[in-house]
Amino acid sequence: MRTDDVAFYADCAMHARGPVLELGCGTGRILIASAAAGATVAGLDLSPLMLDACRRKIAKLPAEIAKRIELVEDDMRSFKLGRRFALITIPFRAFCHLINVDDQLACLRRVREHLDDEGELVFDVFQPRLDMLIDPRASDEVEDTPESALGDGRTVRRTARRAQIRQAEQTMQVEFNYYIKSANGQVERLTESFPFRYYFRYELEHLLARAGLRVAALYGWYDRSPVSEQPRDLIFTARRA
Ligand SMILES: C[S@@+](CC[C@H](N)C(=O)[O-])C[C@H]1O[C@@H](n2cnc3c(N)ncnc32)[C@H](O)[C@@H]1O
Repeated sequence: MRTDDVAFYADCAMHARGPVLELGCGTGRILIASAAAGATVAGLDLSPLMLDACRRKIAKLPAEIAKRIELVEDDMRSFKLGRRFALITIPFRAFCHLINVDDQLACLRRVREHLDDEGELVFDVFQPRLDMLIDPRASDEVEDTPESALGDGRTVRRTARRAQIRQAEQTMQVEFNYYIKSANGQVERLTESFPFRYYFRYELEHLLARAGLRVAALYGWYDRSPVSEQPRDLIFTARRA
């Protein structure tokens, strides 16, 4: 699991002038670090399973931190919370789950509606490597997460595979395989597969403009270094235009 982004987003949250909203908060990897850094945070996610896992983590936190966290089950394309935020984040490529332009614009327009006058949107996507998009080996299964204990005598490791790349739609079908090994050595494989959208820099600048947002800063990594010829992530900060 990556960690470079956690300190970056927690720092953004800590310096926000008011409440923070994280879209696609998942199990709270960044949300909880942000609350621990002192921010008041709301985490929104479409998946009840993710939110349940997040709730279990929050239940183990000191009350002082837990009381600064709120969870909302909703869709980042259509949420209406009736209040505005100093900072809205969409960490760890959650925006790549929005496949078509209507969904992307709907999300960014919801963000604009929920940002206060000085509010900032911060989000990241991965930068596609053009050589990998045409490399037939890119669809090979590669080790993604090393084996770890599940706590009940079983272990799990995860592999990843880009099952299909559709250049015309700018999507890749991501496949995660979970290998669960029982104490008796028997291995069960569970597969999760979903489409993932890849974006190019100027496409996102145009999308933001269509949603009434303007780019405030663009970074190539979480240490705030600039975008370079070495494709890594694109990290945008944007404000109301
Ligand atoms: C890659 S995870 C990111 C989790 C978390 N932000 C982190 O950094 O660890 C993406 C999350 O986005 C959520 N998601 C996908 N589509 C969504 C949508 N339309 N509205 C809200 N959440 C969505 C998924 O349920 C998942 O929890």
